[in-house]
Amino acid sequence: MRTLIFSDIHGNLEALNALLKFAQKRHIDRYVCLGDLVGYGASPNETIQKIRMLKPLSLIRGNHDKAVTNQDSIETFNPIAAAAIHWTQARILKKNLEFLTHLPEGPLTVDNEFTICHGAPFDEDYYIFGEFDAAEAFDYLDLPLGFFGHTHFPFIYTKREGQVEGQFLEGPINEIKLEKGVSYFINPGSVGQPRDRNSRAAFAVYDRDLHSIRFHRIEYDIAEAQKKILKAELPSALAERLSLGI
Ligand SMILES: [Fe+2]
Repeated sequence: MRTLIFSDIHGNLEALNALLKFAQKRHIDRYVCLGDLVGYGASPNETIQKIRMLKPLSLIRGNHDKAVTNQDSIETFNPIAAAAIHWTQARILKKNLEFLTHLPEGPLTVDNEFTICHGAPFDEDYYIFGEFDAAEAFDYLDLPLGFFGHTHFPFIYTKREGQVEGQFLEGPINEIKLEKGVSYFINPGSVGQPRDRNSRAAFAVYDRDLHSIRFHRIEYDIAEAQKKILKAELPSALAERLSLGI
């Protein structure tokens, strides 16, 4: 049983299409999405429609999904992020807005196997940055495996005999074997707006039978995503950052 786990697509259809092409060529049984379908990118409607067609086993909301649906204020958003929210609100189709509005809040338990949240299990908007944050998150997780998004950094936190350790994931493919007695809290990275100075789309595949997780980075048509952002008159910084991975 292979589950593709992805997060933070942010209206980047080109990055999502690359992920789907990757998945078609492999054996993927189910999809789990950790939120932030929209915000920043120029294709919110197409992104939502594609994700709906995937019929993910579980899908939770992110802070940008909440902001677009007016379920949260944009006070904490920087001016560029706020501009993208207003742009998205003006263009999102009613059916897609309704879909976003009804996305559940994390944390959620998936198939009694693992937990998912957008930011942290104790607060969906909290950014897990560092072992101190991760240690608190582990206290809220009942299962030994959890996934989170929000920071746009692919990262693994492990808890072994009470000791929490973090590991940043570099390289095109990384794989870990899940060990008994060890807990894992994992960020698969961002599909549509990586921020770790690596412009390639990030996601992970969890293989339940092999007790393994593979982390992937794949190329996508960045130039096309940038062209759409500029044509849409979204802030040009949103286009620039895609090729820099920031
Ligand atoms: Fe995000």
